Amino acid sequence: MTEESPDAVILPNDTPTNDYLLHVNHGATGFDVVLSPTSSIDDLKQRLYELTSVPVDKQKLLWKGMKRGAIALEGLGLKNGSKITLVGASESAIQSMHQAEADASRRAEIMRNREARGPTKVRGTSASSTKDAQFRFHRIEPLSHLPNPIQARSTLSKLANDPAILHIMRLHEFSVGMLTELAPHEHPNLLGLNVNGGQSILLRIRTNAYDGFRSYGEVRRVLCHELAHNVYNGHGDDFKTLNSQLNREVAEFERSVQAGSNTLSSSVDTYEDHASNVQREAAVQAFVLGGGTNPESPHTSENREERRRRILTATVARLEQEEREIDDRCRG
Ligand code: NI
Repeated sequence: MTEESPDAVILPNDTPTNDYLLHVNHGATGFDVVLSPTSSIDDLKQRLYELTSVPVDKQKLLWKGMKRGAIALEGLGLKNGSKITLVGASESAIQSMHQAEADASRRAEIMRNREARGPTKVRGTSASSTKDAQFRFHRIEPLSHLPNPIQARSTLSKLANDPAILHIMRLHEFSVGMLTELAPHEHPNLLGLNVNGGQSILLRIRTNAYDGFRSYGEVRRVLCHELAHNVYNGHGDDFKTLNSQLNREVAEFERSVQAGSNTLSSSVDTYEDHASNVQREAAVQAFVLGGGTNPESPHTSENREERRRRILTATVARLEQEEREIDDRCRG
């Protein structure tokens, strides 16, 4: 009496005829997966992980007739022959993405540091601003009992903030407590004085008759001399070498600033420009090489070269004379 319906025929789950053949597309790659309808979605994902190395938690699966709320494939709207799209990056792709992110953030950090350092060769913001704060004149003080203290203060301030002077102060780590002036009538024989290796520097900035101020260039030469006394007492060879170096560094600094700002007009070589360049060169040679050799240029005409030498010789002689006068009139 019993009649077996075909539905009652129990086939083992792993019978191939009963399995789902699923076509999976991942990017440009397509492959087939065979799973039982009672397999879970996690089984499918694990299989896909083995095939594509896309981590299970990174897989997003899409198919036509997708249903929610079930665990087994058959309850999720999948059937034999379903096409599944897998979206998700493989582990190696994720790794290289993380690597790319790390590279990008490292590059961004380098750029931030570079910006923080500023446009030129200054190394490290904090270090350079510490140097700026430390190696300078910490106070300027004109003599209030002398005429025109406002111009005196302005002259001292110009010297104290002269970029070339600040450049050598940072370079040699010179710190000076106070920059002030010498009254010509009180110290008739002095052009400059360095008290206790940089505690204070006194400069004669006024003319002897008190009818004006000495030329800025002359006073600045004396200032270089007095700065060298931050290191050496007296006018011995060590002192002379350092003093020469400071003068050379001031000249070189100004030449580099001029070269940087005059690039557009540099083709206009007037005689005055040429002469001032020769003088600057002479100053450098006078204090570095002892005023000896002149660089030869095969393209220079003989007349021009002769004139050049004459100017050079005269300038060297003048600068050496000035330097002797500073020596004589400095209580170093
Ligand atoms: Ni001296």
